[in-house]
Amino acid sequence: MDPNKRPETMERITTPALAKAFIDEQVAAVKAQVGDKKVLLALSGGVDSSVVAALLIKAIGKQLTCVHVNHGLLRKGEPEQVIEVFGKQLNANLIYVDAIDRFLDKLAGVADPETKRKIIGKEFIEVFAEEARKLDGVEFLAQGTIYPDILESHGVKAHHNVGGLPEDLKFELVEPVKLLYKDEVRVVGKELGLPDNMVYRQPFPGPGLGVRCVGAITRDRLESLREADAIVREEIGKLDPVPWQYFCAIPDFTSTGIRYVDGKGERYMGWAVVIRAVNTVDAVTATVPEIPFKMLCTIRDRIIATVPGVNRVLWDISEKPVSTIEWE
Ligand code: XMP
Repeated sequence: MDPNKRPETMERITTPALAKAFIDEQVAAVKAQVGDKKVLLALSGGVDSSVVAALLIKAIGKQLTCVHVNHGLLRKGEPEQVIEVFGKQLNANLIYVDAIDRFLDKLAGVADPETKRKIIGKEFIEVFAEEARKLDGVEFLAQGTIYPDILESHGVKAHHNVGGLPEDLKFELVEPVKLLYKDEVRVVGKELGLPDNMVYRQPFPGPGLGVRCVGAITRDRLESLREADAIVREEIGKLDPVPWQYFCAIPDFTSTGIRYVDGKGERYMGWAVVIRAVNTVDAVTATVPEIPFKMLCTIRDRIIATVPGVNRVLWDISEKPVSTIEWE
């Protein structure tokens, strides 16, 4: 039997009871595979790696070491949530790596999107490998591979940051959710007690805000993007149903704004923030859902009032094709 093929008889995990049975089965399987050895996991805080972390903590507790790399391109509140949920609530062995300067220094002045992606991916592996080398006796690497990753990329997780670790780091893989579809991973995560905003999180690209801070990333524009994105997610997150993906991009141009100082109008140049919300099934094509005008105005007002350097708010109504979902 091919371990990477989902058996036709495997029931779809749709209920808490089915999730519980799956968890019990996987806890036993992981224990049998790993014994008393140590396991390493790159924990981004995304759905898949979070569910694998929670499952492994249940199975092997402190034999698991989670490494959370903060590359500076995460959304507002994400690193804090990983520390809170895994470090504090689940009492995991969690290594938090502040690699912000390292990534942003490497990215400084780089405008080409694919070069940015390559730098982020390569740097991520380097940081993770450095952490792995510091630990003694790790024999296993856990990964949040899910079934669509296997179907789409013959076992290599598409877009995934981990993979291609250096030769000296040869680990046996632990992939407890590799036969599950995304919706099943969420049911399992919920049953494991992970918070809803982690389990029902919208897709977020590996290079993170890096591909939404258009062109060469600067720290100030990146911070403004992070703030504006948090506002957009909070407001559009109130829609029912929520769009498949909704976020902000910040292009690398400025336009004229006007502000009043002592009653006197003064022109200045500022950034424009772009609101992007799309619906899709497979991310190959995407449509743009209606957003109530009142909600758009609330977003505009909050961004203009609070986000430094931004003097214009735009709504991207372009569909895919021809426009990709991300701006880069
Ligand atoms: P596009 O922009 O190609 O995006 O229409 C389709 C889906 O893929 C995500 N995306 C990425 N995910 N690394 C990722 O992990 C990437 O480099 C990347 N680029 C795009 C995007 O967010 C959307 O869901």
